[in-house]
Amino acid sequence: MRVIVKGTFAEACVAVAEIIGDLVRRKPTAKLGLATGSTPEGVYDHLAEMCAAGLDFSGVTTVNLDEYRGITGDNPVSYRYFMDKMLFSRINIDPNNTYVASGVKDLEEELARFKRKIYDGQIDLQLLGIGVNGHVGFNEPAEKLYCTAHVEKLTPSTIAANARFFAHESEVPTEALTMGIGDIMSAAAIVLLAGGANKATAIRELITNDFITTAIPATFIKAHSNATVVIDRELAELAGYR
Ligand code: GLP
Repeated sequence: MRVIVKGTFAEACVAVAEIIGDLVRRKPTAKLGLATGSTPEGVYDHLAEMCAAGLDFSGVTTVNLDEYRGITGDNPVSYRYFMDKMLFSRINIDPNNTYVASGVKDLEEELARFKRKIYDGQIDLQLLGIGVNGHVGFNEPAEKLYCTAHVEKLTPSTIAANARFFAHESEVPTEALTMGIGDIMSAAAIVLLAGGANKATAIRELITNDFITTAIPATFIKAHSNATVVIDRELAELAGYR
């Protein structure tokens, strides 16, 4: 696993956008696995700028990591809404080539569709953030982790962390559809971006030792042959990385 440390978080976002941009330039039909949360916002800003400057997304397809259960895609707190607003409406991608799981359709059918979208052609690059407790997608710390797309019950810590996007913590859905760890590991490349002091414990477990543990689901990416972690200097120092 490669670790890239940038001077600032803004620079880390640009570095990740450049990695994605290089891929799309090299492979105009690239399949991207995308992430939500506040972490990738700067990446999407930069990709929108790159598109305005001529980077062509017309042949790109995307599949997102996860979606809250019980929330429709036109709800501003849904991940579909976030992706449309933060990226898809700002680049020349065909909306039909973007997939964010539906949180409201028949569950079994939607999980089957989700799996088809993940495996119908390998994901070239999977972008990840990381939860305060080390979750990726919505794969929460547990004794056992799921390999494929499934419904995850969110932990109180994740509900509390994500409450800032909702009017009240009681409105945060308690379940989500998410790619499993095996789905994430099936991508040809993984890029995990993190910033902020609250991620220091999880990032320490990810980049300063050689262990994999279901207690910090992100640690599984250590076993991937082409994984890159991009962080800023402040987080690297807080995580004890030298
Ligand atoms: C959510 C998402 C994750 C994301 C995490 C961190 O739980 N399911 O994919 O990485 O939040 O979010 P943030 O980037 O806002 O800290």
